[in-house]
Amino acid sequence: MMEETFRRIFGAPPEIVVRAPGRVNLIGEHTDYNDGFVLPAAIDRAVTYAGRRRADRRVRVFSEDFNATAEFNLDDIQKDSQHTWSNYLRGVTKFLEADGDRLTGAEIAFGGDVPREAGLSSSAAVEVGATAFWNQLLGLGLDPIYAIKLAKRAENDFVGVPCGIMDQFISALGRRDHALFLDCRDLSYRHVPLGADVRIVVCDSGVKRALAQSEYEIRLKQCREAVAKIAATGLPVKSLRDVQPSDLDAARGAMDNLLWRRAHHVVSENQRTLEAVKALQGGHLERFGELMNESHESLRKDYEVSSPELDKLVELARAQKGILGARMTGAGFGGCTVNLVRAGAAEGFVQAVEKGYRGAGTLSGKTYICQASDGALVTA
Ligand code: GLA
Repeated sequence: MMEETFRRIFGAPPEIVVRAPGRVNLIGEHTDYNDGFVLPAAIDRAVTYAGRRRADRRVRVFSEDFNATAEFNLDDIQKDSQHTWSNYLRGVTKFLEADGDRLTGAEIAFGGDVPREAGLSSSAAVEVGATAFWNQLLGLGLDPIYAIKLAKRAENDFVGVPCGIMDQFISALGRRDHALFLDCRDLSYRHVPLGADVRIVVCDSGVKRALAQSEYEIRLKQCREAVAKIAATGLPVKSLRDVQPSDLDAARGAMDNLLWRRAHHVVSENQRTLEAVKALQGGHLERFGELMNESHESLRKDYEVSSPELDKLVELARAQKGILGARMTGAGFGGCTVNLVRAGAAEGFVQAVEKGYRGAGTLSGKTYICQASDGALVTA
């Protein structure tokens, strides 16, 4: 399909087509920028790039989603305030050049079906897709971890949005029918099979993540402050990853209640994620679901990043047959919930939650049964 779009716009077939998926996080929320643990899965919604080389140093890029074209020169890559959708590609391209990869010009068409601002990491898919695109078009042979860090750098330092490494990582290295357990400190990872008995169901609240960026920055700062307070009590901690639940109890007097609750979410979420991985590996799906439920409560009460709509979706989900666990996923303040549902109950679950959500208000949330998918840098 992107091939046809490319032909229509540029009048010739593309040389290559690459695909980078969005993601859903099963557990381990707001832990990645604290050197902690996450367990996301890539989903079967993706951003696709099609393109071919040019003989000069110009890049012409067409966005199918915005039905617009932008153009830039490889020797002078600037942020574009008009075609902001092109900034992810610009950032990735600029940093590849800056790191010494001599690129050539290209014609590119891209677009996809990862909903934007829904908390399913459409930006990471665009960045990882751009990285995979150059890698394949020019045979750069990029190391996957380098490529993932580069995509994150484009988001942080070029587009200017703070984020951890989870989204880029899973978009690059997700695996079909598996979740990916990642240690965000040393970037070691392993794939964990999801099993044939369950489905991942994503429910979109329909609320765009309006407050997400400013509140995300506040949470980042609060986590750093909490670490500084705990370190000041004499504990050798560099990040909340190093803090054990008992340390946190002991440090209760060292910080105010708000900071303590923020830290408490992260410390307990890391514990839950470690236990969840074990539960999934051991086939203890009910325990896994309980941990998802606990994660949501912690995000709601301690970290305060949920919203009434997300809470409503979680409440509806938990009342359905076949539900194992339900929680908000991603940064919060709108976006989606993730649900683990028994395979046989998934269709009924979708209908009941959609009906219940529509009945509860004016928003028409969309629901997807997701298939865990391969990432953009996975080679057969
Ligand atoms: C966003 C960020 C991720 C991560 C999540 C919260 O998706 O991009 O790096 O911090 O929020 O877990």
